[in-house]
Amino acid sequence: MTAPHAATVIDGKAFAARVRGQVQAHVAQLAAQGIVPGLAVVLVGEDPASQVYVRNKGTQTVEVGMASFEHKLDAATSEADLLDLIRQLNADPAVHGILVQLPLPGHLNSDLIINSIDPAKDVDGFHISNVGLLGTGQKSLVPCTPLGCLMMLRDHHGSLAGMNAVVVGRSNIVGKPMAQLLLGDSCTVTIAHSRTRDLAAVCRGADILVAAVGRAEMITGDMVRPGATVIDVGINRVERDGRTRLVGDVHYASAAAVAGAITPVPGGVGPMTIACLLANTLTACCRAHGLPVPEGLTA
Ligand code: GUN
Repeated sequence: MTAPHAATVIDGKAFAARVRGQVQAHVAQLAAQGIVPGLAVVLVGEDPASQVYVRNKGTQTVEVGMASFEHKLDAATSEADLLDLIRQLNADPAVHGILVQLPLPGHLNSDLIINSIDPAKDVDGFHISNVGLLGTGQKSLVPCTPLGCLMMLRDHHGSLAGMNAVVVGRSNIVGKPMAQLLLGDSCTVTIAHSRTRDLAAVCRGADILVAAVGRAEMITGDMVRPGATVIDVGINRVERDGRTRLVGDVHYASAAAVAGAITPVPGGVGPMTIACLLANTLTACCRAHGLPVPEGLTA
C-alpha cells in the first residue's frame, strides 16, 4: 500500500510575516536617510468589513515603520469633495501611496475616483495607466492580491517558465492582472470563467491553478491535475453546523488529496494582500526618491 498523498501547504501567514520583515528592514534603511514612506487610506462610509480591513492596514503600516494617514469620510460625501481630498494627497510629499477602499457608496463613480489618483501613488495598481503598463510589460504598480500569489508561486517553484497556468475568474482586481503576471513569468496562460465550456477539463490542464471566482468550494479535487499547485484566492463566508466559517473557492480536502501544493483558507493568500500593499508603498516611495527598488518585492 502506498502512503496517502499529502500536498505541501503553502503558509501565507508565515510568508506575509517574512515580506513584512523585509519591508521593515528597508524602511529602517530609508529612515537613516530621513525618508519615511507614507500610506494614505481613504474610507467612505461605514461598511463593517471595510472598517476591519482599513484598521488592519493602518496597524500593519505603523508596525513596519511607515506613516499611516487615515481619512474616514461620511457615507454621503460628494464626488467633488472626495476628488478634492485625492488632489491634496497627490500633492502631499509625505504620502507615497494612496488607497481608496472599495466598494464605494453607489453615488460615487469608482473608475473616476481611482483614475484621479496619481499613478505613481496608486498602490492598489487599479489606475488605468498602471493596468496598461502591466499589460505591456512595463514597470508599474501591480494589484496586491495577484502580486502576493506570484510571490508565493516563485518561492515554491523558482522559475515558472513554460508552466501551464489556469486562472479561474476574470475580475479586474485579481483574474486579469494575475494572468498578466503569469504571462510575464513565461507561463502558458488560460483565463477561465463562469461561461467556460468544460471547466473541469480546462482546470485539469493546469500545472498552476488559481481560483478567483468568488464561489465557495467550486473547484473540487476532480478538477485538479495530480501534483498541481493550487492557489485559492477566495474568501467566502458559509454557515455550517450553526457557525459562520471562512472557505475558499477551492474544496480544500478533495483538492489537497491530489495537489502537489495548495494554499489554505484562511492563512493562504489573504495575509499576503496587506503585506504586498506595504511592499508597493515602499516601491512607490523608493521611485519617488529616485532610489533603487528592493529586490523580491515587485513583479
Ligand atoms: N476592497 C477589498 N479589497 C480591496 C483592495 O485590495 N483594495 C481596495 N482599494 N479596496 C478593496
